[in-house]
Amino acid sequence: MTQYIAAIDQGTTSSRCMIFDPSGSIISIAQQEHRQIYPKPGWVEHDATEIWTNVQQVVHDALRQKDITADQIAAIGITNQRETTLLWDRTTGEPLHNAIVWQDTRTDQLCRELGAGIGQERFRERCGLPLATYFAGPKIAWLLREHPELRARAERGDVLFGTMESWIIYKLTGGTHVTDVTNASRTMLMNINTLRWDDDILAAMDIPRAMLPEIKGSAQTYGTATGELAGVPVASALGDQQAALFGQTCFAEGEAKCTYGTGSFLLLNTGTTPVQSANGLLTTVGYQIGDQAPVYALEGAIAITGSLVQWFRDNLGLITTAPEIETLARTVDDNGGCYIVPAFSGLFAPHWRSDARGVITGLTSYITKGHLARAVLEATAWQTREVVDAMNNDSGVDLTTLKVDGGMTADNLLMQFLSDVLDVPVVRPMVAETTCLGAAYAAGLAVGYWPDIESLRANWHKAAEWHPQMEAATRDREYHNWRKAVERTLNWVE
Ligand code: G3P
Repeated sequence: MTQYIAAIDQGTTSSRCMIFDPSGSIISIAQQEHRQIYPKPGWVEHDATEIWTNVQQVVHDALRQKDITADQIAAIGITNQRETTLLWDRTTGEPLHNAIVWQDTRTDQLCRELGAGIGQERFRERCGLPLATYFAGPKIAWLLREHPELRARAERGDVLFGTMESWIIYKLTGGTHVTDVTNASRTMLMNINTLRWDDDILAAMDIPRAMLPEIKGSAQTYGTATGELAGVPVASALGDQQAALFGQTCFAEGEAKCTYGTGSFLLLNTGTTPVQSANGLLTTVGYQIGDQAPVYALEGAIAITGSLVQWFRDNLGLITTAPEIETLARTVDDNGGCYIVPAFSGLFAPHWRSDARGVITGLTSYITKGHLARAVLEATAWQTREVVDAMNNDSGVDLTTLKVDGGMTADNLLMQFLSDVLDVPVVRPMVAETTCLGAAYAAGLAVGYWPDIESLRANWHKAAEWHPQMEAATRDREYHNWRKAVERTLNWVE
């Protein structure tokens, strides 16, 4: 009987289930969007019960599409939007509030307080991250401060914390409370060297250890599923960006990928030693297979890229579908001197400025919606250039090629511009769904479905490649203009 691997991707805007065969090809896909809840400016929430219902639905739909039954699935892998924070009741298994999404900026003041007198870098040596609203630890601290009744229960272990992989595994297995090293490395609470919860950071943020999940590797069996996939081992968990690194088979030190979704995330494999960044990047765990040594990554996290296209579509109404932006941008030859910096949630890497807000610069009566469309696409490429510069400086080695994936890589104009501004070739693989693929690969390795990482590399095939065509003088002038626009985003919020 043919065996498959199922992957569940619990993302920022939707949940998906994909089923893969031994060649890493997609057999079936199901997807379900969930609501984005915006209770106040800067606040973003998700309903975790809605998400769990959707996850069950997409698993059901993906199986039904090809009449696949649980006994044909060798393992389930989980991947997820990272940092999004949830507390639930250990007894009832019910969420105690809406999940606070990674883009949410409500912890800005709390982060300033935690850094007071010491600064944003207070915990970087221990956890590899700057103090920023992005990460889970400050979100937990905020919840316990705002809801004192939860604190006593949390200290007794009656309130459980998890990011979305923990929540899905808990529900799927009927009560296993675990996380994996990649997701734990985004909490600010895990020591990046020991891969254990860090007591000093927990004390500084006043977070009880009893509420935290057990930290496991990224490719090992955590438990078996109940429900429609009853009996199937749940055998991997990776944050979605680390899963994409795995799915792109960036297994060697020096290999990098960038995933273009809601935001964009460039990860460079730095081998088995964590590299501390001096240029605004994040030190994070890339993956850990079984009990092998963990593999680390440097990450350039960009908050807003694809979501700027959505904003252009939904808030400005200048296009009706996201792919139309390429057609509109092609109605003009260049940006006409216009630049858009989408600092909607402040700026992430390499700036880490929560006081930044978006700007459009260079407006004249010459500017048309075509120029604006170009500026929207170019913003993604320039933000990538900023993190590549930081990466080159941190690693001391210049990036020679960039593997890309994610929805925006279907935009040829953007991919050519990206290659132009990075001045390196940009390559896209045949299977662009690298996030699910990475989770499937890790689960398959854990149960012996694939023998080793070499067999996974053999599945990677190039689908498209772009080479730099822009004159150096043009690139330098445009980058200078972009940086001037970035300066204008700063100091908007007191
Ligand atoms: O760190 C946030 C990231 O994991 C979100 O990814 O693809 O769900 O927007 P995505």
